[in-house]
Amino acid sequence: MARHTFARTTLAALSAVTLLALGACSSEPPSSGGDTGSGDSGDELISVGFSQVGAESGWRSANTMSIKDALTEENGFELSFSDAQQKQENQISAIRNYIAQGVDVIAFSPVVETGWDAVLEEAKAADIPVVLTDRAVETTVEDAYVTFIGSDFVEEGARSGEWAVEQYDGEGYKVVELQGTTGSAPAIDRQQGFAEAIEGSDLEIIDSQTGDFTRDGGKKVMEGFLTAHDDIDLVFAHNDDMGLGAVEAIEAAGLTPGEDIKIITIDGVKDGMQALADGKFNYIVECNPLLGPDLAEIIKATVAGEPVEERIVTHDEAFDQEAAKEALPDRQY
Ligand code: AHR
Repeated sequence: MARHTFARTTLAALSAVTLLALGACSSEPPSSGGDTGSGDSGDELISVGFSQVGAESGWRSANTMSIKDALTEENGFELSFSDAQQKQENQISAIRNYIAQGVDVIAFSPVVETGWDAVLEEAKAADIPVVLTDRAVETTVEDAYVTFIGSDFVEEGARSGEWAVEQYDGEGYKVVELQGTTGSAPAIDRQQGFAEAIEGSDLEIIDSQTGDFTRDGGKKVMEGFLTAHDDIDLVFAHNDDMGLGAVEAIEAAGLTPGEDIKIITIDGVKDGMQALADGKFNYIVECNPLLGPDLAEIIKATVAGEPVEERIVTHDEAFDQEAAKEALPDRQY
C-alpha cells in the first residue's frame, strides 16, 4: 500500500501563485467538467462537496469555520458540507451522494486512514477530482486524489517527544499517552513520532489508550490511568481536548496538573493555550486548522486544470508557557 508522504514545504511561505505553479512535484488533476470561474467576476459557482470528520474537538470547530468562511458564494463556491460524526460509513455515504450530485470537486478529511479504495475508485470513474484535507489515506488506487493538504503529524509527535527529552531525560519519567481516534492518521503518526523521539532516553511509556480526540474521552482514560498507576510523571495527549480532560481528572484526584503531572499536547486552540499560560499544560505543538483559504485556491486551480503540488504541508509553531502568554491575545481560534 502506498502511503503518501512527501518532502516538507512551508505553505505559509507560498503565495497562491507559487503554490500552484510549482511544477517539480506536481500532478495534473483530472478534469472536473466544471466552470473555472472565481465567482467575483460573475462566473458560474464551483460546486464542492466537503465531508468533515465531525465536531470532536476545538481544532475541528476552527477547521470547519475556516472551510465554511473560505468556500462561500462570494468567493465563487457552492458548498455542500456534511459532518460524519467520526464515522467512516457516514463519510463514504456523503461522498457517494456528492458523486451522484455530480459536484465539481470533492474534499474530505478522512476519519481513518484505510478503507477508502472503493469510494475513491467511484469518484475517479465519475471524473470528479478529490482533495484530501488534514488527514491522509492509505490507498492502492492510482492518482486517487489531486493533493493532500495538512500538517506533518509524525513531526508533531517528534517535536513533542524531543521537548520532553530536553526537559526531563535523566529523571526516569513514566509517561502515559492519550491517543487520538484509533486508525486515524494523526493518532498513528503522532504516536510514532513521539516514540521515536524518546528512544534512547530514560522516559518510559507505561500506558497508552485512545480518548478519541474528545475532552470526555481524555478525562475517562486519564481517570483509568490514575487508578492503575501511582507513578505517572507526564501525559502526552494527541490533542488539546484530551489534555484538558486529563487536567480535570488530575485535579479531581487531588494532584496539580503541570506540576505533579506534566502535560504535553498538540493543537494550540485557545482553551489549550489558556491552560498552558495558566501553568496546567507544559508544552503545545501547534497543528494549524486554518486550511480553508488554501483549499479554496487548490480547488480553483484544480478546476482550471492547473498543476497542484501533490503534498502541501502546513506550518506549525510550538509553545511553552511563556510563549503561550504572549500568543494568547492574538489567537484566532
Ligand atoms: O486531524 C487533526 C486532529 O483531529 C486534531 O489534532 C484533533 O484535535 C482533531 O480532532
